[in-house]
Amino acid sequence: MSKDKLIIALDVNSRAEAMSLLKELAGMSGFFKVGMELFYSEGAGIVREIAATGAGVFLDLKLHDIPNTVGRAARVLVRSGASIINVHAAGGGAMMRAAGEAAREEAGRLGLPAPAVVAVTVLTSIDRDSFNREMGYTGAIEDRVRSWALLARESGLDGVVCSPREIEMVRMACGPDFQIITPGIRPAGSDLNDQRRVMTPGGAIKAGASRIVVGRPITAAPDRRAAAAAILAELSASSCHCEE
Ligand code: C5P
Repeated sequence: MSKDKLIIALDVNSRAEAMSLLKELAGMSGFFKVGMELFYSEGAGIVREIAATGAGVFLDLKLHDIPNTVGRAARVLVRSGASIINVHAAGGGAMMRAAGEAAREEAGRLGLPAPAVVAVTVLTSIDRDSFNREMGYTGAIEDRVRSWALLARESGLDGVVCSPREIEMVRMACGPDFQIITPGIRPAGSDLNDQRRVMTPGGAIKAGASRIVVGRPITAAPDRRAAAAAILAELSASSCHCEE
């Protein structure tokens, strides 16, 4: 179902704005993303409130610290009722393992469904020049994404966040059950903003994304429902071939 594949990013910083977006976009998606801006403003209460409406919440806080700290933080985030939480793959295998184990244990202790724990690979705003020259990595972004995706899988995580341009490669490397969540989605002709490694919604689903994250192409559109509806139509048209 296309609505389950679309995660709308609530990149606002107040409860009032988030709830108004949720209301405006009712029925367009069953999944919303709460990022740093909204979480740092409103805390876990906003995650609970959105989850209580029946929507899934991708809590995008990109944890990156020593394994003990990340494990303990993951435990706390599970209590918010988020369906997906994430860490940076650059934190290493032990850190990713600690996050996954802590999330599963805490969910079990509380009798909650365990959230999916996914690893952010290389941010979709990073281009090759910045990756090599500023950040000092050698080789191609794709190779780094592949090795981090494999490390995430070996560390017991459920999937990765990567650029839509890397979906096919990650799918080949990590198999059909690995979750691939992709931001960096831009409908044809729309503004790139700060994103660099982008693809259209339909292109990402055809390539094998589990879910796509869309923010500004919907939230900054003059008619948000129309923008979301156009993306859903593109997703339906693109998934038909795969599911038949
Ligand atoms: O507005 P836009 O569609 O670019 O929003 C993309 C969302 O996905 C933002 O909330 C951003 O924080 C998030 N994100 C990303 N790249 C990642 C992980 C998350 O753009 N690698």
